[in-house]
Amino acid sequence: MAKYFISTPIYYVNARPHVGHMYTAIAADVLARHYRKQGRDVLLSTGVDENSQKNVDAAEKQGLPVQEYVDQMATIWKDSFDHMKFTYDTFVRTTSKDHAAAVHAMIAAMQEKGDIYLGDYQGYYCVGCEEFIAEKDLVDGKCAIHKTEPKVIKEKNYFFKLTKYRDQLLAWYKENPNAVRPESARNKMLSYITDEMQDISISRQAGQWGIRFPQDESHAVYVWFDALINYLTVTGYPDDSFKKWWPADLHLIGKDIIKFHCAIWPAMLMSAGLEMPKGVFAHGFFTINGDKISKSLGNAIDPRDLLKDYPLDAVRYYLLREIPFGNDGDFSLVRFAERYNTELANGVGNLVSRTLAMVEKYWSYMDISIEVDKGKVREIDAYIEDLAFDKALTAIWHEMSILDSVIDTKKPWEMAKEGKEAEIKEVLTTLIVGISTIAEMLDVLLPETAAQIKALVSARPLTKPVQPLFARKD
Ligand code: MSP
Repeated sequence: MAKYFISTPIYYVNARPHVGHMYTAIAADVLARHYRKQGRDVLLSTGVDENSQKNVDAAEKQGLPVQEYVDQMATIWKDSFDHMKFTYDTFVRTTSKDHAAAVHAMIAAMQEKGDIYLGDYQGYYCVGCEEFIAEKDLVDGKCAIHKTEPKVIKEKNYFFKLTKYRDQLLAWYKENPNAVRPESARNKMLSYITDEMQDISISRQAGQWGIRFPQDESHAVYVWFDALINYLTVTGYPDDSFKKWWPADLHLIGKDIIKFHCAIWPAMLMSAGLEMPKGVFAHGFFTINGDKISKSLGNAIDPRDLLKDYPLDAVRYYLLREIPFGNDGDFSLVRFAERYNTELANGVGNLVSRTLAMVEKYWSYMDISIEVDKGKVREIDAYIEDLAFDKALTAIWHEMSILDSVIDTKKPWEMAKEGKEAEIKEVLTTLIVGISTIAEMLDVLLPETAAQIKALVSARPLTKPVQPLFARKD
């Protein structure tokens, strides 16, 4: 059976999940459900990035031992994912023994290649970014993103000979022009590799938190270096069985972490003699009512709060429909509520209720077998495989508008007055086949809605739903 390995990034646990974090997870969930449906053996991985200095600082603030803090937060993240019915297959924690073993094996392979050396590091480090910053990138002596002064670090570090792989990376991307999408991400990656890439430090001397560097316990492995290796940990690496899954078919990431996934990670793999991931897709960023989502602004929407008021599929619908995957966009609660009422309650909800109410009234026993329109379903499948989720949903809603106009022009209630039974059955058959096709098209995008429609149209006798699919909220 063909396999499909898709990953989300692993999340820092210094704060609770917000809707921006959920974005990657929902997109990954759609793809995983899609390929499972196609009969592929799917591995969808997610998890948490626990060896970060941010987590140490957050634990300190709460007065908790770091391990206790990350244990608590890992549970919160996992519960949140479960609450969102996110169908991940593995949830990796980077404080696990398996992960440390994978990191050590990877370093050993890279050392054997002669790609790791001990050097002196002197420079600026931003804990917010978990990254070294070049002096030229500081604004008034501060990190441009976090507006905080970086730490000045001077210590011995282990370095990875990243620059050794510059030409090999560029050659690989030349041969694989679709390996990084969308084009904006590809350009960003190419300019980093060509103009900026330097050898990177992959260890820290200060601090006791993190995976110990092999043969030199006084160093911890640099958190990004360790985090990237999670994609191998989940395949079982270094056990030979990892070949079942590796290389990854798709790493889904946000646009802020392109350089790590499209330059550093592939170079690490080249060094260790492992295959390149088949693809990376970088999506854009959600703002909230125009502002960056941030803890300090206090505007982070917890998906759990949304789910108290709205069904899960409403959140999936909004995130996937509002902006083309790859672009930036705004999560506006006003637009969310508008889309809910017009496109979900009055849209799909109303169409399904109207159709079934008419069948109930004019033809309570449906004695036909329903064949969905496979061509239309395939059209949606193609959009999904292209990560064009907004286009998939737009096409499905277009299909609904056609069915709505069938009802409005044919007016089955008038046919009933005139006793045109054969015609009524014909129109209602078109509508039932239409909504069954819609359910099939929605299957992996809005799984609960699809399942509800399928249950409704397969019941005999057919009756209108007791509860509307999406109750209007005013
Ligand atoms: N731990 C690293 C990733 C390591 S992967 C080997 C990290 N974690 S994170 O928690 O800061 O971010 C995780 C993901 O969430 C990233 O893909 C990031 O781009 C995404 N998002 C964080 N905020 C977001 C929005 N406001 N909008 C969309 N995606 C967002 O980076």
